[in-house]
Amino acid sequence: MLRDLAEKPPLVFMGEARSLQENLARVARGQAFLLQAGDCAESFKEFSAGNIGDRLKVILQMSAILTYGTGVPVVKVGRIAGQFAKPRSEDTEVVGGVTLPSFRGHIVHDDAPTPEARIPDPTRMIAAYNQSAVTLNLLRAFTRGGYADLHEVHRWNQEFVASTPGGQRYEQMASEIDRAIRFMEACGVHDVQALRETEFWTSHEALLLGYEEALTRRDPLTGEWFATSAHLLWVGERTRQLDGAHLAFLSGIQNPLGVKLGPSATADEVRAICDQLDPDRVPGRLTLIARMGAAQVAERLPPLLAAVRDGGHPVVWASDPMHGNTFVNADGHKTRRFEDVVAEVAGFFHACRQERVWPGGIHLELTGDNVTECLGGTDEITDAHLGLRYTTTCDPRLNARQSVDLAFRVMELLEP
Ligand code: PEP
Ligand code: CO
Repeated sequence: MLRDLAEKPPLVFMGEARSLQENLARVARGQAFLLQAGDCAESFKEFSAGNIGDRLKVILQMSAILTYGTGVPVVKVGRIAGQFAKPRSEDTEVVGGVTLPSFRGHIVHDDAPTPEARIPDPTRMIAAYNQSAVTLNLLRAFTRGGYADLHEVHRWNQEFVASTPGGQRYEQMASEIDRAIRFMEACGVHDVQALRETEFWTSHEALLLGYEEALTRRDPLTGEWFATSAHLLWVGERTRQLDGAHLAFLSGIQNPLGVKLGPSATADEVRAICDQLDPDRVPGRLTLIARMGAAQVAERLPPLLAAVRDGGHPVVWASDPMHGNTFVNADGHKTRRFEDVVAEVAGFFHACRQERVWPGGIHLELTGDNVTECLGGTDEITDAHLGLRYTTTCDPRLNARQSVDLAFRVMELLEP
């Protein structure tokens, strides 16, 4: 199976990965903001043009809010077109009273709650590759073919979002953007490519090293190795051991890289990660994604920020306010509170200001659908609502309304 994969064409090109790194270098310098967002786990079942377009819409909406509100360009990176493998803390999980092998993502097995469904099937790696290719094709068409044109800024607001206060605030902002574009056009500035198209990159967790290695290729011109499964790969909180295979793999590829850092990360560990993955101190090479939890960010993050700053590593610092704030409610739903998500982002911005480090971005799990997976937000989703539209195959995601609301909250936090 891996031999078959090794003969497949690359999904992304090395030049694109280099271009993302240049954009991330701008973030590292404090001249841009990173929005990395998408599913916790992409699904082989919920896979349609509508579904991909809706996810892109909400990311474009958030990006418009952040750009308009802060005047800083937003580098858009999806957790998409390859985010299929899930690390799990426990080998087993209990579903409906039955103990099963934990769900590890559709690239490994099916999520149905039966022992047979959970048997790993290597042909799924080919299916994941194919779905990534189709998803990328759509994303390229959407972002180059008029869908991401800023003239369409109103159309990204889905009906179920437009009816909320956040959606109305967005409408108002979209009208102001329209007016600004009309003003520019009246002044004779026409056909600005940057308004008509947008750059959008892909990323996922580099968890299945067999899959990643099979898709790693050598640049014939420079001899450098690149993962071609996505533009950016990250290593998760559970696999970032300094002597582990995952960091060793990342250190050998030239793509921009991410590493998640949870509350147990020490300054020494983070220094060692930087030395291993970014020995040459290349701006934009490394994105450190803090996922401390709202209650711990103020205490745990500043020493790490200081260590990296003093070590001279020009990294991007991003906040993942999702993974440190997950809990299981009384009815057994894995969920997160919208206010905890906002509180962690606020704590992240505060810690960055305190350490004179640019708060470079946010890393989110969201969907364009009207799901009920995270509590709170202007909809006031309560425990009683969670069962209504809880469709994630892994972690709870922000719905499109909560995502737009969050973008406004982040915009306010970013204001000088
Ligand atoms: C994830 O991003 O889906 C994830 C599992 O994160 P972490 O490694 O931070 O727990
Ligand atoms: Co997740």
